[in-house]
Amino acid sequence: HIPYHAPASGKIERYNGLLKTTLRAMGGGTLKHWDTHLAVGGIYTVIQTKAKITADEWGENYFLVGPYFEHNVKTQVEACEPPNPAVKKAMDTMKSQGCQVFFGRWLIEGSPYVLLFDIGSAAWNLDRWKGEFWDVSNIGIPFHDREANDAVIFGSLTAWFLKELSCQFDDKPNIIAHFHEWQAGVGLILSRSQKLPVATIFTTHATLLGRYLCAASIDFYNNLDQFNIDKEAGERQIYHRYCMERASVHCAHVFTTVSQITAIEAEHMLKRNPDVVTPNGLNIKKFSAMHEFQNLHSMYKARIQEFIRGHFYGHLDFSLENTLFFFIAGRYEFSNKGADMFLEALSRLNFLLRVHKTDVTVVVFFIMPAKTNNFNVETLKGQAVRKQLWDTAQSVKEKFGKKLYNALLKGEIPDLNKILDRDDITIMKRAIFSTQRHCLPPVTTHNMIDDGNDPILNTIRRIGLFNNRTDRVKVILHPEFLSSTSPLLPLDYEEFVRGCHLGVFPSYYEPWGYTPAECTVMGIPSVTTNLSGFGCFMQEHVADPAAYGIYIVDRRFRSPDESCNQLTQFLYGFCQQSRRQRIIQRNRTERLSDLLDWRYLGRYYMHARHLALSRTFPDKFEMEPSAPPKTEGFRYPRPSSVPPSPSVSQHSSPHHSEDEDEDERYDEDEEAERDRQNIKSPFSLGVLPQGKKKQHGEYRN
Ligand code: UDP
Ligand code: G6P
Ligand code: GLC
Repeated sequence: HIPYHAPASGKIERYNGLLKTTLRAMGGGTLKHWDTHLAVGGIYTVIQTKAKITADEWGENYFLVGPYFEHNVKTQVEACEPPNPAVKKAMDTMKSQGCQVFFGRWLIEGSPYVLLFDIGSAAWNLDRWKGEFWDVSNIGIPFHDREANDAVIFGSLTAWFLKELSCQFDDKPNIIAHFHEWQAGVGLILSRSQKLPVATIFTTHATLLGRYLCAASIDFYNNLDQFNIDKEAGERQIYHRYCMERASVHCAHVFTTVSQITAIEAEHMLKRNPDVVTPNGLNIKKFSAMHEFQNLHSMYKARIQEFIRGHFYGHLDFSLENTLFFFIAGRYEFSNKGADMFLEALSRLNFLLRVHKTDVTVVVFFIMPAKTNNFNVETLKGQAVRKQLWDTAQSVKEKFGKKLYNALLKGEIPDLNKILDRDDITIMKRAIFSTQRHCLPPVTTHNMIDDGNDPILNTIRRIGLFNNRTDRVKVILHPEFLSSTSPLLPLDYEEFVRGCHLGVFPSYYEPWGYTPAECTVMGIPSVTTNLSGFGCFMQEHVADPAAYGIYIVDRRFRSPDESCNQLTQFLYGFCQQSRRQRIIQRNRTERLSDLLDWRYLGRYYMHARHLALSRTFPDKFEMEPSAPPKTEGFRYPRPSSVPPSPSVSQHSSPHHSEDEDEDERYDEDEEAERDRQNIKSPFSLGVLPQGKKKQHGEYRN
């Protein structure tokens, strides 16, 4: 019931001495009860990658606020004194009343300040704070919902801090507080009910109901205006959470969503149209050498191939040179993330590759965390066997080398039939015998706790993709996020993505979808859908996305079966490309990365902040009522040099040979140069002056 200010008109006039806070949940995998999609996954990526440009803009006046978790602080935060006396005083007041507050620099790019509240140390206030929250909102929080209770504590601490902070200033201070997701929203609701002089922004990265309804396989997008939302939330026992989310949305001076598709969803599920759509960006680092990302692909592909040698020991009757690596990754939401459709398409792809007797093999990784009891024995054995073969080869090679050397010293060519003795042959035979296996290469790398009910494994059982020799599509479920310290596949996620050929993300529910965006900036093609924020964004800004390695499956206007066929065609088409075509396509994919750079997309967040200021402090900050940031309308043209479909693409050099890398590189450079002249990035078109850092007050609409 708390009204939000009507937008003011005019121009932003003053824009100095502002203090901006971002309220968020910070942490890593240890935050078991803090909703996992805040702790790991895309929201974490938003906050972490955005820190750099935000710190560039706000400098010492930018603070991230979150819950304190000892392990994360120990490994990621450097403690320091707050540089701002007002912040220090507010913290000291809270500390003097028994609440533990931690301050430091988060050791990520941009090294922003973080202010962390220890929820446990303030938990004794819970009943009182729940009562106060009820008084202002009429939202009751059940005692058993630990996450919602923590959100009340965190929100009360946040509002308390903002209150202490704002009363330090004689004049009305200029504070912007930006809240992400319902878990942080209580602070916003309380700030408004206490009439704190703070400009508030709320960003939602998904709606609670949208996520739940889609996961229940409901035809969501065709029935957006049909749902009885209170009833749906009640039946799913998330009514109080839903109310927290909806109240945060309605209390905010400015409400934003991460994509246009989530804007429409919010209109129906949360009953407010966002004021600004704030698409997610990434920190793009350009390599000085143009081919560097291609070299990295080669390097990490070799590491994945090494893993495959172990995993498929005894069954390595396919050529690794002709093997493509596909993957899907993200939080384990089986149908929302489109793992169901992907498996079905893989089954069809397997059939196509078999009937067409293609020599390509596809190995598909599912990187989706589930409950496990560590790696399984067969998987570990695979890597041990590979290591043993490697060691055997090394010791025989050494012996062979010594004998050869001695013979050469004597001026002789050794008798190659005798250079290895019986023992060497025995060792080698034993090593080969150890590669015999009586089972198929496993479809999962871990012991799954709920093996019998796991949706990926059950689908694999149903469609029969068991890694048989005859299968051209092999699958590996790795139910844990990747880490460079893993004894099995020692690569971090970024390295793994670089080593793969195609990321496949056929999501049904995906407000943005960082995974395909990350592929793009690393120059790895990917599949996305027109139900994902990223997919729609690319469709809007790129004339022929497939030519650039962005395959967009239509899950909106087609039946699931038709979408699955389209996905299968994309995958099959990709398998038909030559190496050269893949290299050219990767070059193009990488060229889209400017579009996803925070230096470009950060303007939407800036705009949201200006709007919030103008609504909260209309006497100080004025703004044109219709002043969207200038980004709409930019579009990458269709590349003219090579047709996107492999079937019509011809080599530009008649002498070209697939095996001649030199030739390949030459053609590739020529191709890249032509594309470069044709394809302008948003920076080169002057949408944002390249290399120029924006200053406060410089913002013009
Ligand atoms: N991710 C990761 N390690 C992995 C796999 C994925 O850190 O092994 C990250 C990935 O980099 C991405 C995020 O998980 O930033 C997934 O975000 P997305 O927006 O695609 O989906 P969400 O999980 O937020 O729904
Ligand atoms: C990169 C490397 C090339 C290599 C190619 C393999 O482009 O620079 O030297 O031939 O990757 O591509 P592929 O798609 O077959 O993994
Ligand atoms: C949510 C969405 C995801 C989005 C991320 C960051 O977790 O599920 O699609 O990329 O937030 O906004």
